[in-house]
Order: sequence, then structure tokens, then C-alpha cells
Amino acid sequence: MTRVFSGMQPSGDPHLGNLLGAWQNWVRMQDDRDCVYCVVDLHAMTAPAEHDPATLRERTVQLATGMLAVGVDPDRSVLFVQSHLAEHAECTWLFNCVAGFGELRKMPQFKEKSEGRGESVSVGLFDYPVLQAADILLYHADEVPVGEDQRHHIELARDIGQRFNHRFAPEDPVFTLPKAVHPPAAARVMDLQDPTAKMSKSSSSEKGIIYVLDEPKRIEKKLKSAVTDSAGDIRHDRAQKPGVSNLLEILAAATGGDVEVLAAEYDGQGYGAFKAAVAEAVIELLRPIQQRYAELDADRAEVERILAAGAERARAIAVPTLARAKDAMGLLPAVRP
Ligand code: TYM
Repeated sequence: MTRVFSGMQPSGDPHLGNLLGAWQNWVRMQDDRDCVYCVVDLHAMTAPAEHDPATLRERTVQLATGMLAVGVDPDRSVLFVQSHLAEHAECTWLFNCVAGFGELRKMPQFKEKSEGRGESVSVGLFDYPVLQAADILLYHADEVPVGEDQRHHIELARDIGQRFNHRFAPEDPVFTLPKAVHPPAAARVMDLQDPTAKMSKSSSSEKGIIYVLDEPKRIEKKLKSAVTDSAGDIRHDRAQKPGVSNLLEILAAATGGDVEVLAAEYDGQGYGAFKAAVAEAVIELLRPIQQRYAELDADRAEVERILAAGAERARAIAVPTLARAKDAMGLLPAVRP
């Protein structure tokens, strides 16, 4: 069966971009694929300024709760916390000796996040995509459901896997080469106040971000004040009409509709009615998730039990993969006395 792996960082409250760009696919893929999903807490430590130990611990449980609330089903899929398996960090070291300085320096996300930070940028931020490659390759993932912004990271994971196989295991490849899977609409949800920038946890203003746990009134307000343009027509054209196009994509992803069909349906009705329709669709999409979140949040012990069971199942896949990789690289097997 096709194996799927994906992860999300506990580095801020999950927003509509995370839900439409990644989580919706995570949930859908469970129907006919073998899925492994992960709260990537080690990745969330790569920005020292935002790393507060108590907050990280709290957000890790909250994010796992969010994943269950959107519909990750622990009976069908593996759900676990990255740092519960030492294999991810260990595999990263092996890959550090395969990945090149030049290819990491070129990663768009590293460039964005390190800009203006000079020498204070952490080595962890630089190495972030190598840890991500370890996440994916340890599980022999064929497909990685992510938003558009992760495209380069998945390509790098593929390159590292290919290089490793070629150099160390040409006869019997250790790693499966993964490919990214993006949703048909909303693979890149934009900020409501600045539709030329990605909706992101690190945005300067919260007005442009819809959080998964936002109350209906807040969602209505944020969508009402979403930046559009002065033309008044509704059509999908990211270059000329970034605000309207973003709203169309959100509506399509929230309702399962088609962007062009929706544009034809709402064109002529004015931005006010269109925004109200988008708000209603988002509120309805989030309502059951928020209800389920509240139920799960009241039973943390159950969430922790699910994560413990998930780590065991993850280990059963990752441990043998890492052992094969170490052997292929020529590391002497440890013999227990
Ligand atoms: P993170 O936590 O930043 O993002 C989690 C997922 O949400 C998607 N996403 C978006 N999609 C559409 N529009 C947006 N505005 C938007 N913002 C975020 C991201 O593409 C991602 O799918 N590096 C990963 C975490 C990771 C990972 C992995 C992913 C670590 N190891 C292994 C896949 C496989 C990240 O950026 O997460």
C-alpha cells in the first residue's frame, strides 16, 4: 500500500493554511493509504527567539489534539511526536554527511527565515530540511501531503535519498524516493490583509490569519475586512486579483467546489455577499473540528495514550530503516556484552 508521511510544527496556533494546504489531505489519504503523521517538535526549536520550553511542551499536546480533531484516526494511522524517537535525530547526522552546504544554503525557507539575522541564525535552522528528509525517508514514504511552500524541502529529501542509495546501497536501495502531494485549491493560502504574502504563523498582524480555533464572529470580521481590489468582479487571477483569488481558493477548498465554477456563480453579486459566503463556508468547516477539539482537550490522558501507542508503531518502521542505513554506511554494529 502507498505509504504517506507528513508533519507539522508546534510553533504557533494552526491556521486555515495548515488545514486547507495539508490537514485536509492528511485526513482524506487515510481511506486508501498507510499514513504516518507527526508533531515535529525538534523542528520547532530551530528559531531560538521563539523557543520557550514550557510553551513548546504545551503546544506539542495541543497540536496533537488538533490533528485528532480534524480527523486523524489513530486506529488507522500512526500519530506520534518526533522527539519520542531518537532515530530522527540520529538519521539526520547520517544525512548531514550526504547533504551539501550549497544545496541547504539555497533553500527558500532558510533564506527567508535567516534574512536580517546575521550570525545569530541557529545551525538547526540551516539543518532543518535535513531533519525533514530524515522524517520522510525513515518511513519509506511514497507521498508527502504538504502545502506548496514545502516543495523544495520534499525535493531535497528525494535528492538525499537518491544520493544515499546510489553511494551506499546501489544493489538494494535503503530509501524510497518521495513525492509531494498538494491540494487542488489552497495549496498556498495567502494572508487576508496582504494577499501577496503566505498566511503564516509568523505574520506581523493576526487580522490576516484565520485560526482553526477562531470563533465564528472573529472569522466573519476577518473575512469582511479581507483586502480585495476596487474592480468589483469575481474571477480567479492570482496576478491581477490576488485577494479575490485567495478567497475563491479558500471557498473551493472549504466546500470541495471548483474555483472556476464558484467564480462564475458569485460574479456580479459584489464583494460583500461573496465574503459573507466565504465566511459561512469557513465557519461550517471549522464548527465540527472545534467541537471535537473541546472534547479531546478535556481528556489529555487519552491524547497522551494515543501518542505513546503511535510512537511504538512508528518505532517498528523507523528502527529497522535506520539500522539498514547505518550498516550500509559502514558503521560497526554494536554487539551487546
Ligand atoms: P509547518 O508547521 O510550517 O506547516 C505545516 C503544513 O501546513 C502547510 N502550510 C500551508 N499550506 C497552504 N497555505 C499556507 N499559507 C500554509 N502555511 C503552512 C505547510 O506546507 C505544511 O504542509 N517543514 C514542515 C514540517 C515538517 C514536515 C516533515 C512536513 C517537518 N518534517 C516531513 C512533511 C514531511 C512545515 O513547514 O510545517
